[in-house]
Amino acid sequence: MDSNDNDASSTSVLFVCLGNICRSPLAEGVFQNLVHEAGLSDRFVIESAGTGAWHVGEPPDVRAVIVASEHGIELTSLARQVVDDDLRRFDYVIAMDRENLRNLERMASATGSEAEIRLLREFDAEAEGGEVPDPYYGGASGFETVYEMVVRACQGLLDRIRVT
Ligand code: 4NP
Repeated sequence: MDSNDNDASSTSVLFVCLGNICRSPLAEGVFQNLVHEAGLSDRFVIESAGTGAWHVGEPPDVRAVIVASEHGIELTSLARQVVDDDLRRFDYVIAMDRENLRNLERMASATGSEAEIRLLREFDAEAEGGEVPDPYYGGASGFETVYEMVVRACQGLLDRIRVT
């Protein structure tokens, strides 16, 4: 494992979606939980951010909070917008969909980033390369579907980081 700006023994992971109130805070909470269960919390820096600024400072969407709590996970982050420095600071920048990915790659090329910028579902064995669909305009069941794909992909991501 290596790191850009953080302690040399830690790996930093930033999850990114559009609003930073649904998918990426869920991924952040799920990944934190998996890392905790693996006894590796002191080896990781884990955050989330959005490419858009509409919800900056807000807690996650209540539907994301509910689905997470149904699975024993507390979401504690407040929304923030991704900034150029994130592309230098984080080892892994993990996008939920291709639009997020394109925006992050544009920022990375302008900042000389060395981050690994990937789609989260590259690490989901059931849908390699797929997107995490935006559940914002749908019902609560969409959040459970998103949760299930996020868990599979976050486990795949952690497995991948541990062998790197
Ligand atoms: P997220 O979902 O990108 O998963 O946080 C969204 C939240 C808010 C909006 C869009 C997507 N919005 O347009 O306000």
